[in-house]
Amino acid sequence: MQKRIFYVIAILLVVAGLTYWSGIFQNSSPDPAASGLEKSEVIQITMYRGEACNCCVKWADYLENNGFRVIDRTVNNLFEIKSANHVSSDLASCHTATIDGYAVEGHVPSDEIRRLISERPDAAGIAVPGMPMGSPGMDSFRSEPYEVILFDDSGNQSVFAQY
Ligand code: CU
Ligand code: CU
Repeated sequence: MQKRIFYVIAILLVVAGLTYWSGIFQNSSPDPAASGLEKSEVIQITMYRGEACNCCVKWADYLENNGFRVIDRTVNNLFEIKSANHVSSDLASCHTATIDGYAVEGHVPSDEIRRLISERPDAAGIAVPGMPMGSPGMDSFRSEPYEVILFDDSGNQSVFAQY
């Protein structure tokens, strides 16, 4: 009888030990979901646009094909949304998107949005002013060079990228 209790206790100790060690090994292996932005991770962005905007939809489709999930908001106060997001008239384009506290104005390439939310500069957002031919969602037989502008809430602007 004594021997049997000893065996039961021994088995319980082994089980407890295995549980403890497997817990340690699980904790030491990195969790991909917790290690920042992975290329495969779907990133959510909200796009505000006017009802009749076709190139806005094309830009949203382009983002969806490049790892984003686009919340499409049709609005009739786009100018209010632009000014609330510090998008001045010289930066304005057809749509205004928001992601992680930043504004993304116009036909901005997806790589620059990824860079924005990973580098997190002290800024209000990035913009591709106007609607340059050849920018994402503005497919055309010809393309023109354009810049992605980084802007802040006091009117400062700098070049974030050139295409
Ligand atoms: Cu457009
Ligand atoms: Cu648009």
